Amino acid sequence: MSRPKKSVRILLLLLGVVVTGSLAYAFSNARKGYEPRQPILFRHTRMAGAPKMEKNAKGEMVNVGGFGIPCLYCHTMPYKGRHSTVPSTAVCMNCHSTVGLNREWVLKMKEYWDRGEPIPWVKVHNLPDFVYYDHSAHLNAKNEKGEPKLALVKDAQGIPMTNACEHCHGKVELDEIVRVKNPFNMQWCLDCHRKPEMKGPTDCVTCHR
Ligand code: HEC
Ligand code: HEC
Ligand code: HEC
Ligand code: HEC
Ligand code: HEC
Repeated sequence: MSRPKKSVRILLLLLGVVVTGSLAYAFSNARKGYEPRQPILFRHTRMAGAPKMEKNAKGEMVNVGGFGIPCLYCHTMPYKGRHSTVPSTAVCMNCHSTVGLNREWVLKMKEYWDRGEPIPWVKVHNLPDFVYYDHSAHLNAKNEKGEPKLALVKDAQGIPMTNACEHCHGKVELDEIVRVKNPFNMQWCLDCHRKPEMKGPTDCVTCHR
């Protein structure tokens, strides 16, 4: 089957987004500051944050910080596919079949597990359906020297980022509750694509196909 000419497709797209775009504006979640409550109080600070040892009341050294679990242990797909995927409860149970069984939220999680139900995590970042986005294309992009484009940039304070996820999601390891920290709108995508060190594509069909 022949595909319509590019110009026709873009016109159709424009028509389509006028309708769906306004609906998407009303329903889309991908908005800076969005911070939905989750069914389990899962804290990235505790699971992915840096350890912090302190003396407890009995004088023993305990970790009141995080366990520094790498992002990719739980989000296994960002370098391989479009979506990053949220882990299944089986991943949590690798540890929590034996660890933390005196904690309220760990027990709540185990109830889902014992019932064989997935945890109904609420999506935090959620672009409208007419936008195409792909994690792996971003995380695997290399410059002329073969270095990853999304790993080298420093943040506004000049501090190098610790992982490539930070470019878009900020320091998730410091989140008690995950929050959308960037606008995630078209202007924001394009601002980065236009940076000389990024050279991301800017034609409409890149993101609207
Ligand atoms: C122990 C497993 C685990 C680790 C480690 C982990 N995460 Fe998560 N992550 C989750 C779970 C579960 C959710 C869904 C619940 C939530 O949003 O809090 C989630 C949600 C997210 C979301 C929001 C997803 C959405 O719906 O938009 C982002 C972004 C994210 N994680 C990034 C990271 C980054 C970056 C790291 C490393 C610094 C990391 N995560 C480490 C388990 C993990
Ligand atoms: C690599 C091992 C490991 C994995 C995988 C893991 N955890 Fe944990 N988790 C721990 C440890 C260690 C603690 C600390 C237990 C304690 O404080 O007694 C903990 C504590 C917790 C707590 C209670 C502490 C708090 O205040 O936040 C919750 C809730 C929790 N984990 C949820 C999860 C969920 C949900 C997943 C899967 C997305 C997960 N964990 C995956 C090791 C793990
Ligand atoms: C270039 C920006 C960018 C980078 C870098 C990035 N993400 Fe995302 N992430 C997004 C966008 C955009 C979405 C929303 C996708 C959607 O709604 O279709 C998203 C969604 C997610 C989600 C929700 C599930 C999904 O795929 O829709 C998780 C989890 C996540 N990202 C984790 C990560 C992790 C972990 C890293 C680092 C290894 C990372 N992201 C790097 C832009 C980025
Ligand atoms: C932090 C910078 C940055 C941000 C923010 C960003 N991008 Fe990108 N994007 C890139 C880079 C770098 C490339 C890859 C260029 C290359 O191939 O070398 C790219 C490539 C792409 C591609 C081409 C993928 C393919 O299959 O070839 C799409 C689609 C895309 N971005 C969509 C988006 C969308 C949608 C957003 C906003 C929600 C976004 N990007 C935000 C840096 C960014
Ligand atoms: C790098 C990715 C990217 C490129 C390139 C891009 N867009 Fe978008 N576009 C988006 C995103 C993301 C949204 C969703 C914005 C939102 O939900 O706030 C969007 C939304 C739209 C909308 C809906 C109205 C609005 O502003 O939200 C229209 C119309 C649109 N784009 C047209 C275009 C046209 C025409 C081009 C080419 C000149 C283009 N886009 C190129 C990412 C892109």
